[in-house]
Amino acid sequence: MSMSKPQRLQKLAAAVFTTMDEARKRKLATGADVINLSIGSPDLPPASHITEAMAQAIRDPSNYGYPMRDLPAFREAVAGWYQRRFGVVLNPDSEVLGLTGSQEGLAHITQAVTDPGDLVLVPDPGYPIYTAGPVLAGAELYPVPLKAEHGYLPELEALPEEIKRRARLLVLNYPSNPLAAIVRPGFFEQVVAFARRYGTVILHDAAYSELSFDGYRPPSFLETPGAMEVGLEFNSLSKTYNLAGARIAYAVGNARLLGLLAEVKAHLDYGLFRPIQAAAVAALTGPQQCVADMATTYQRRRDVLVDGLNRLGWVVPKPKATMFCWAPVPPGFESSLAFAMELLELAGVTVVPGSGFGAMGEGHVRIALVQNEARLAEAVERIARSGILDRHAA
Ligand SMILES: Cc1ncc(COP(=O)(O)O)c(C=O)c1O
Repeated sequence: MSMSKPQRLQKLAAAVFTTMDEARKRKLATGADVINLSIGSPDLPPASHITEAMAQAIRDPSNYGYPMRDLPAFREAVAGWYQRRFGVVLNPDSEVLGLTGSQEGLAHITQAVTDPGDLVLVPDPGYPIYTAGPVLAGAELYPVPLKAEHGYLPELEALPEEIKRRARLLVLNYPSNPLAAIVRPGFFEQVVAFARRYGTVILHDAAYSELSFDGYRPPSFLETPGAMEVGLEFNSLSKTYNLAGARIAYAVGNARLLGLLAEVKAHLDYGLFRPIQAAAVAALTGPQQCVADMATTYQRRRDVLVDGLNRLGWVVPKPKATMFCWAPVPPGFESSLAFAMELLELAGVTVVPGSGFGAMGEGHVRIALVQNEARLAEAVERIARSGILDRHAA
């Protein structure tokens, strides 16, 4: 019996994440206090009306069979929320599909719409599942560079003609992880025109649609005329309602594409635990003050961290959305990994090297706003004391 790792899995080996994780554990083992700004998991609790709805449903013995199809109340809640939030009208029966987290849907969608060898355009840098899903499905990847000078939007028309013609899928994510970039008005219209011209399916990941600052309100891709004919949007309750551990999200949009995704899922899972769907219904239909409060909390954290780092001379842009800051590696370090390792060693602060998100991520690190303001202020203070920013200055 051969125990060797299959090529698909070898392709996914993320050396940067493993190296950082091991270094963090070594540091913790010395008894050091490490401020973890690497993982994008919300540290805030869900609102009590949400957990209460889940608690009530938990006590109902009829909720313990295989759920199979989504509860109609869940699909209607998603459709109602999309209409109120974006003015997008969805048919709850055919244009909404529950997911065990958007990670799950983004992983499986490639199997639903590609054959092995089909070409998938993924953002570089981008959230790792956009790459892992196609690799596991045997599709071919084409990383589309996202550059600061283009507002971190892909230059679709500049892609080689052969790539455009072969592109079966295009993945987009605004507000984005790890870049914290937002979409420019008019860009989604260009995307729809591209999709129509080349027959490309569009996937838009809107996981951070509610985590925005300074009055900015991110749009839905589905607001764009023609978007429903060419693609899907993935959205999640993980960040919006602090339900990351409950694993509930959904895809909305083109009914044919959702039907294909549902078909793949029918082979793999038996649906979402009903008490979790009940929590999602309470979240989506209940008072939305908790969402505004959540965004305000992250905005305050952003200000503490970015203003603090900028005062030290580390010029980090202030994001308009997401729980991340995309910070350039200060001068004098040979790579984002080298800087992140030294930051851990000297300041006891962990961040993610940008190279973990694709080749174009080199030169930056991602800092997650997942600690309270006092802890973020302490991180700034430790970075100042460590001297890491001026030690290597040219
Ligand atoms: C851009 C993006 N998409 C999707 C996800 C996955 O979220 P979910 O909890 O819905 O699987 C994350 C999680 O961090 C994310 O950052």
